Amino acid sequence: MKTLIVGNWKMNPENLVKAKEIFNLINKKIKNFRNKEIIICPPFVYLTEFLGKIKNNKKIKFGGQDCFWENLGAFTGEISPTMLKNLGCDYIILGHSERRQILKETDEMISKKIKAVLEAKLKPILCVGETEKERTEGKTFEVIKNQIQEDLKEIENCKLKIENLIIAYEPIWAIGTGRACQASEAKEVLLFLRKELKKNYILYGGSVNSQNAKDYLKTGFNGLLIGGASLKPDEFAKIINFN
Ligand code: PGA
Repeated sequence: MKTLIVGNWKMNPENLVKAKEIFNLINKKIKNFRNKEIIICPPFVYLTEFLGKIKNNKKIKFGGQDCFWENLGAFTGEISPTMLKNLGCDYIILGHSERRQILKETDEMISKKIKAVLEAKLKPILCVGETEKERTEGKTFEVIKNQIQEDLKEIENCKLKIENLIIAYEPIWAIGTGRACQASEAKEVLLFLRKELKKNYILYGGSVNSQNAKDYLKTGFNGLLIGGASLKPDEFAKIINFN
């Protein structure tokens, strides 16, 4: 089983020159990638450039940070799973907390997106996680259970390859704050998710860096979803090059 290392660049950097610089450095610094699947999810506008340039690159795969649930038509501003598939992407992040909170994405929307992504034969990376308030109130498991239940509704009785669905546990209070969730605490959620999702990859995300990355992998997570540190070539490569 390969370890998945996913870099979520979010809405960064501000131009293609910088994007290429970061990408080329990462590509150069990655050494130990044979037992890992390395995925970079840059903003859509940089994907064409990256995918065109590195057709024969075996080290890095690509993903989108979101997509729409329809494949074609009058949906101004949207990008479809088929478009991303045809471009050469393999993965799509869905239901990131920033989209849930800032863009008001609902579980119903996310559920439709998961179905569309699986139908396009891409692998969805579904993000779930609790807010700080929910954690303090002891609602972590309840919140996550509900997210999984609602987000998987559309694929409940489908013949889609549900094992292609990847779950990323991202406690919202740990995202971009430098306050990563302790591996021991994250493990409790991992075990909780594992009860239901026996065959799926489960990743951890939220302030992962080169110091704490191995703790989550040792704990049993199948990989990592990395925001800030994925834009720092040295940090990102260190996380990957760890055995
Ligand atoms: P972070 O972001 O690593 O910067 O905390 C993780 C994410 O949002 O996926």
